[in-house]
Amino acid sequence: MSEDSKQAEAVEEKPYKPTSPSSKLNFDGFWEYDDAPQSADHVEYKDQYDLFIDGEFVAPEKGRYFDSLNPATEEKLTSFAEATQQDIDKAVQAARKAFNKSWSTLEAKERGKYIFRIARLIQERAREFAILESMDGGKPIRESRDVDVPLAAAHFFYYAGWADKLDYAFPGKKAEPLGVAGQIIPWNFPLLMLAWKIAPALATGNTVVLKPAETTSLTALKFAELCKDAGLPDGVVNIVTGAGQTGSAIVNHDDIDKIAFTGSTEVGKIIKKSLAGTDKRYTLELGGKGPNIIFEDAPLDQAVEGVINAIFFNQGHVCCAGSRLFVQEGVADTVIQKLRDRMETLIVGDPLDKNTDVGAINSEQQYNKINEYLEIGVNEGAEMYQSSCQIPETGYFCRPTLFTNVGQSNRIVQEEIFGPVLTIQTFRTAEEGIKKANNTPYGLAGGVWTDKGSKIFKTGSEIRNGVVWSNTFNKFDPTSPFGGYKESGEGREGGLQGLYPYVKLQ
Ligand code: NAI
Ligand code: MG
Repeated sequence: MSEDSKQAEAVEEKPYKPTSPSSKLNFDGFWEYDDAPQSADHVEYKDQYDLFIDGEFVAPEKGRYFDSLNPATEEKLTSFAEATQQDIDKAVQAARKAFNKSWSTLEAKERGKYIFRIARLIQERAREFAILESMDGGKPIRESRDVDVPLAAAHFFYYAGWADKLDYAFPGKKAEPLGVAGQIIPWNFPLLMLAWKIAPALATGNTVVLKPAETTSLTALKFAELCKDAGLPDGVVNIVTGAGQTGSAIVNHDDIDKIAFTGSTEVGKIIKKSLAGTDKRYTLELGGKGPNIIFEDAPLDQAVEGVINAIFFNQGHVCCAGSRLFVQEGVADTVIQKLRDRMETLIVGDPLDKNTDVGAINSEQQYNKINEYLEIGVNEGAEMYQSSCQIPETGYFCRPTLFTNVGQSNRIVQEEIFGPVLTIQTFRTAEEGIKKANNTPYGLAGGVWTDKGSKIFKTGSEIRNGVVWSNTFNKFDPTSPFGGYKESGEGREGGLQGLYPYVKLQ
């Protein structure tokens, strides 16, 4: 026996045995990671939260509260106050008083200082915000820690900088604040959406009444505490909690000058109808059914990684998710195989584990909605593939899913699912890909993957989407505007453009 074969035998006799009990090999030979739980011991939250009005936490007039669950455990996390008409009246009055007495008359650079202070305090408490965001909403800690919270702080920093430079933003014009802004936000990026709304409003001298979504209000109430710590004058920021009726009371309040809404297209349409004929200004950021287009010459591994990020990121709870994939025919089989392989490695589970890629679906209602769409897809004749990962028994979890063999008119291709569900179609020419990509009532965001600059320009300018990423996806920056075409909404948020909805130009 030669030396070499002796060695081979020795290796065979002693297969490597992992030392840690949980780091076993799974059936495909992938390593399973050890648990890497984020400790939540040091974060504090109350059992019950009141409304934040005029710089104080006050009980709701009708004394009603509702529970907020941790969707990963289905257990009650805390409860929030239900604000009714009288509470909204109080909040709007507080905001009006603060607008007249302090905020709109304050020197712009002083306004800026408060906003800088808020930004710094978010950074200081970043870990606490990230943990609470994951507990209340179900998103993986890696994402709330690395995306939501840093971006929220970045928005405050960015708009703080504009506060005393509005003359440069609008050369030759004088920018006046509108007054009181009513702001209603969804549950997919709670603190980040709050930042998108509050930062430009304050920078331009407006005061706000903001309503977070009923399943994820915790970080907004923590933000209220932070406003107190920052010494923000009372009434400049008011946080009221509740569901649709509370939102509707804000939309229909006579003394509100502007409505900023992010949420479903359905509610966006109701709001637009209510505002018709009033002189309230508004911006609406609504649903999406984003296309991701992969050309044959694209760097395929990079594109696959981008697609994974575009739809499984945040459980697909992203209005600009890339939920429809279009692959050029020649590479379709390769891309689908690579996607399935990559999906197998995604870790679905505990949002507070640092290894988790896909966390919990935000609520039971949303969980049921996603499952209904899976059934619809199968009944429509599409072929469903789901990753084979283990999912926890309790909590609302959904396997990453893709559908092939889908038709352009299928409901799973046309309607927003808002979950980790991807449909895949093929195309031959750029024209065909663009045409299919545009065949939807939405137009929020999309992506194009190719080696050729000319294809990026052609596709980017011909797909009707407010944002088009090329060779990347879901990249956000406070300096760039965001918003949709068609049923995806009206107006832009972010960047210099994000100042316009909050000012009158003289
Ligand atoms: P939604 O549009 O009902 O909720 C968004 C916000 O609007 C929440 O704060 C809610 O309390 C408030 N609201 C509800 N009815 C209102 C009304 N009549 N007047 C004023 N405010 C009102 O969204 P929902 O029901 O939570 O989710 C349903 C679907 O909407 C999702 O499955 C998804 O497809 C889509 N969606 C899209 C979002 C986006 O960012 N584009 C965000 C959230 C949901
Ligand atoms: Mg919750």
